[in-house]
Amino acid sequence: MEQLHQLAKIAFASEFSFYLKAHQFHWNVEGMFFESLHSLFGKIYEEVYESIDEFAEKIRSLGTYMPGSYTRFNMLTQIEDETQILEGKQMVQELLLDNEKMKVILKKLFEASETAGEHGFSDFVAGRIDAHAKHGWMLKATLK
Ligand SMILES: [Fe+2]
Repeated sequence: MEQLHQLAKIAFASEFSFYLKAHQFHWNVEGMFFESLHSLFGKIYEEVYESIDEFAEKIRSLGTYMPGSYTRFNMLTQIEDETQILEGKQMVQELLLDNEKMKVILKKLFEASETAGEHGFSDFVAGRIDAHAKHGWMLKATLK
């Protein structure tokens, strides 16, 4: 269970960082494709943000406390911060790579959850994998 708690916190902090990056891109994107990229990043950050509270409460239900500070997120996240202002296409490329990372992190969490027999939690995590599969499709299609 200890390992499941740790993996869940890593996935949660990574999901929060992914959300923040998509929102930052939504704010800062510029150029000829402003309208469509602003809206694409908007759709992604909103979907992820809406999952955050339920994600945290599901982890609490596993019997552990939630990280909720920048210091703790920074210790746990596997999604690197972006402090530069990127061009639109670079934003899509970077978010696509991060999205792939999220899928790997969530699959690892799903397996740990199944091993621990936490099927309800696995079900939630499977939903997050599905959501990131859709984000990946939209980001990839935008780059073509
Ligand atoms: Fe907005």
